Amino acid sequence: MVRALVTLIWMLAAMCSYAADQATGDTATYKYPGLAQTPPMGWNSWNTFGCKIDESLIRETANAMVSSGLRDAGYVYVNIDDCWHGERDAQGFIQPDAKRFPSGMKALADSVHQKGLKLGLYSDAGSKTCAGHPGSQGHEYQDAAQYAQWGIDYLKYDWCNTEERNPVEAYRTMAQALKAAGRPIVFSVCEWGDSKPWVWAPPLAHLWRTTGDITNCWDCVISHGSWNSYGVLRILDKQEGLRKFAGPGRWNDPDMMEVGNLASAGESRAHFAMWAMLAAPLIAGNDVRNMSDDTRSILTNKEVIAVDQDVLGVPAFAYKKEGDVEFWFRPLAEGAWAMAVLNRGAEVRQVTFDWTKEDVEDTQSHLRLDLPGAVYRLRDLFERAVMGSTNKPLKIKVPAHDIIIYRLDR
Ligand code: GLA
Repeated sequence: MVRALVTLIWMLAAMCSYAADQATGDTATYKYPGLAQTPPMGWNSWNTFGCKIDESLIRETANAMVSSGLRDAGYVYVNIDDCWHGERDAQGFIQPDAKRFPSGMKALADSVHQKGLKLGLYSDAGSKTCAGHPGSQGHEYQDAAQYAQWGIDYLKYDWCNTEERNPVEAYRTMAQALKAAGRPIVFSVCEWGDSKPWVWAPPLAHLWRTTGDITNCWDCVISHGSWNSYGVLRILDKQEGLRKFAGPGRWNDPDMMEVGNLASAGESRAHFAMWAMLAAPLIAGNDVRNMSDDTRSILTNKEVIAVDQDVLGVPAFAYKKEGDVEFWFRPLAEGAWAMAVLNRGAEVRQVTFDWTKEDVEDTQSHLRLDLPGAVYRLRDLFERAVMGSTNKPLKIKVPAHDIIIYRLDR
């Protein structure tokens, strides 16, 4: 009886809010406004744990995010991916798997919130999730209302088992349902880039996956039969041409990070720094309860994070390539720049960058490195030290599968 009443109240609230949107003609944007003004930061269970998840893992991870300094560095979303689901109840409300999540989602969200963190969940626009759990198709308003009631702060919404469903309709329906539910929930489109979500998702969602799944290698493609997963460089290369679609409140998502899951600290550094250069969401995918000092220090590097979180929100561009080495630039607020020198190859590379011979201009933002008008200090963000300036050519060795990232300030 009580549940039936709750159902009725949620349905009415959803319908009223939707009617209000229609009445005010607010069709330009469906997503909750003002969220994700910089790329979201947090953790997600999938890359390391897949379906082996439960309440203890989430609680231990939340504790580790606090004790390791991840939370204070900005990682606030604790996101539970696929496989948290049980069945729908008699009224059709989704329930967590009672064996894995015995305290229920509301209690878990409360406990995560008490630690100064936020809780995210995963669902799917089809009949079933990718791992075969109940999807949200036909239950969007009910699911959004349930998430809001539990205190959920982030929804990753996947694309398995959608048959002939139109992605714009499917994601718009959930966006409207989330907005109607009235809680600030970051909405993450996970459609793998197949129908160019960067074109249609900005009014609906705060971020959208641009590719298929990442995997923990530098430059591999792994076939899973009907789909592939991709190493860090493969995902990076698929971002070409997408920078113009991103900005405050709307981010390209090259997938959750494999920092700490790669073959070396250099690879993790390069992966992390390139995600920061791209203004990508920084969602850690490693086991943060058991990470090495190297991994912790990469993930909590405040100066690299500041590049990612820069308020201009303009992603980097590849300025030039010399064999295995790529030079990337990103304009930052207040006339600063970030520069990354990425060595994709398996050999150390000696490179020179002669500032007098270069003209670094961003054709998108029309910002230009003011050379030779100004001298910029070059601060190496992993060495955490000023390493010279633009008044003499940069001569550096970049180790194999590694990166050097600078901030340039006048
Ligand atoms: C898809 C997504 C992944 C993950 C899994 C879960 O493959 O792209 O990120 O959420 O589903 O089943």
